[in-house]
Amino acid sequence: MPDSNASSILERFFPALSRRDFLQELRRRNRHRVAHGDLARLAELPAIDALRDLDAALAAYRSAVMVYGAAIVEETEGIANRMMVPAAAARRYHDRGCTLELDCADLYIPALRPWIAALQAELELPAGTFAKAIVYASPGGSGLGPHFDAYDNFIIQLRGRKVWHLLANQNAAWPLMHYDLDEQPYLPEELRGYWRGTAPRDFAAEAEALELAPGSVLFLPRGTWHATAASDEVMSVNVTFSVPSWIDLLLAEIRRRLAPYEAWRRSVDGCTSSAPEQLAELAAAAGALLRGLPGDLGELRAEDLIARHREPHDAYQLASALFRQGLRI
Ligand SMILES: [Fe+2]
Repeated sequence: MPDSNASSILERFFPALSRRDFLQELRRRNRHRVAHGDLARLAELPAIDALRDLDAALAAYRSAVMVYGAAIVEETEGIANRMMVPAAAARRYHDRGCTLELDCADLYIPALRPWIAALQAELELPAGTFAKAIVYASPGGSGLGPHFDAYDNFIIQLRGRKVWHLLANQNAAWPLMHYDLDEQPYLPEELRGYWRGTAPRDFAAEAEALELAPGSVLFLPRGTWHATAASDEVMSVNVTFSVPSWIDLLLAEIRRRLAPYEAWRRSVDGCTSSAPEQLAELAAAAGALLRGLPGDLGELRAEDLIARHREPHDAYQLASALFRQGLRI
């Protein structure tokens, strides 16, 4: 049963669960969770003026908006299905049937930041977790195709009704990257290393359909296959958490331990040389480093690894946020 702490964001998201019970579910990340109810239970969000409607959000968002949809395919003569446009032009694309994605919306809507930080604290996530908000808006009849993401996602439906098609991921458990089903049969090399079986053949038939209405909250664990279709004019805010994996913690600790050694910091030269003596020199340098590695690295202890949870780790998300900051209009 939920405890009496009514200020818990998670317990207002999912009133049937205590925060502790939700954390148990979160740690398995094997099932989505949805709750429907009055948006007013999330008092902070309706109070944010920039989330009042699309025009308010676009006025606050001084950046480039990613637009998706048939109008883009048409405009680019089939080259692309998405495009970045200035916020001032985005409403026009929305009215032509496109979905708008206001990535890193918390950079421009500062009132979201303390709320996201409070949610992250409730989730007891590593300090190096990359959290952000994305506002999605769509005029109805459009959506995103089947894909999975490498982050956990809380979707809060603000306006309109939207159908989510969800399917457990039997192909890639705990994925480290985003992947679109329409990339099949191509698989990036790293993903191929842990991909199992065949991708969903008839996604629409295999997936579970779930309709979100204003006030609905959906938790989508990292890796869940999903696609969306807006039933009418919709707006939602997604809060995503890129949580470091054990690989991230290990790599951060190895870097910390090797960085003091000049030999490990040296630039790598000659890898693409055709001169045999250059290649022999390269192999000798790599061999000497590897022979010294056990001593340079020392003993790796559990507490050293866990201490790295504070490190920023998601280079893609960090670069994307910096890019957005550079785009401030
Ligand atoms: Fe997604």
